[in-house]
Amino acid sequence: MIGQAAQIGRRNPVDMGLKGRHALVTGASRGIGRAIARVLVAEGADVLAVARSVEKLQTLAAPGAVPAAPPAVGRAAGSLRTRGVDLADAAAIDALAPELARTDVLVINTGGPPPGRAADITDAQWTQYFKSMFLAGVRLTRHALPGMCARRFGRILIVISSGVQEPIANLALSNALRAALVGWAKTLAGEVAADGVTVNCLAPGNIDTERLAELGRLRAERQGVPVEELRRQAQQAIPAGRFGTPEEFADVAAFLASERAAYVTGTIVRIDGGMMHSL
Ligand SMILES: NC(=O)c1ccc[n+]([C@@H]2O[C@H](COP(=O)([O-])OP(=O)(O)OC[C@H]3O[C@@H](n4cnc5c(N)ncnc54)[C@H](OP(=O)(O)O)[C@@H]3O)[C@@H](O)[C@H]2O)c1
Repeated sequence: MIGQAAQIGRRNPVDMGLKGRHALVTGASRGIGRAIARVLVAEGADVLAVARSVEKLQTLAAPGAVPAAPPAVGRAAGSLRTRGVDLADAAAIDALAPELARTDVLVINTGGPPPGRAADITDAQWTQYFKSMFLAGVRLTRHALPGMCARRFGRILIVISSGVQEPIANLALSNALRAALVGWAKTLAGEVAADGVTVNCLAPGNIDTERLAELGRLRAERQGVPVEELRRQAQQAIPAGRFGTPEEFADVAAFLASERAAYVTGTIVRIDGGMMHSL
């Protein structure tokens, strides 16, 4: 049995129905967003990957860089295009309107905000990150929804954080703004479910990305503890005993983006190796 499973590999021939679907993934130059863009291409979707750094996006689009995995059995990979967009810039989002009008799968994944205590966040910071982390997703969705509803197929995925269920110390901006996104997403899910559009939030626990490493370094400095020691402690606290990979996260996103997930909406899906203890 084990030999057979190894032969089949990570992907089995379940048709996700993503071939030829148009997807737009934000925050796609690295980490979780990049992995989602890659798996959607591998599943046959035509993907527009956006982020601020055109240089980093180009490495994603370099020959041989996609797909991340061999195309799913029996299907050809899709295509990848990239575009530099700052999610804090409303006009830049509005300029994506023609793309969004034909987008079937919208992955709203923003940059994470800096650490900070709840009492210390300034008005300027609240406003800045409200724009790039909350309003950006609302604007993207506003452009994409009419087409999704008309075609009676749409998948809106929003990358949030486990901090919405158990606020993470010293990440006040993230905890608050992502909770706002959940409230908006849940409301929207009810409004468009009968049109064939699903809206789901994906909550990472600790996914091994550059951001996780950066936050770890800052915490280690603050606490005067070696970064490797903090990393070891964090992994020990996760029932799976390790951080997740961006690819493991992206596989769940691909399922939620697929035709197979038509009856899943208005949920928060945790990808956290069992880290969250609450029901
Ligand atoms: N990794 C985890 O364990 C974890 C846990 C909880 C929550 N999260 C959250 O999940 C999201 C993805 O995580 P990650 O670890 O992959 O983060 P990451 O490595 O920091 O990647 C963030 C992505 O967003 C892009 N981005 C940042 N600001 C942007 C802006 N204003 N406009 C357009 N694109 C922007 C970045 O590219 P450019 O710099 O090129 O724009 C990058 O591609 C983040 O919001 C993070 O806070 C992650």
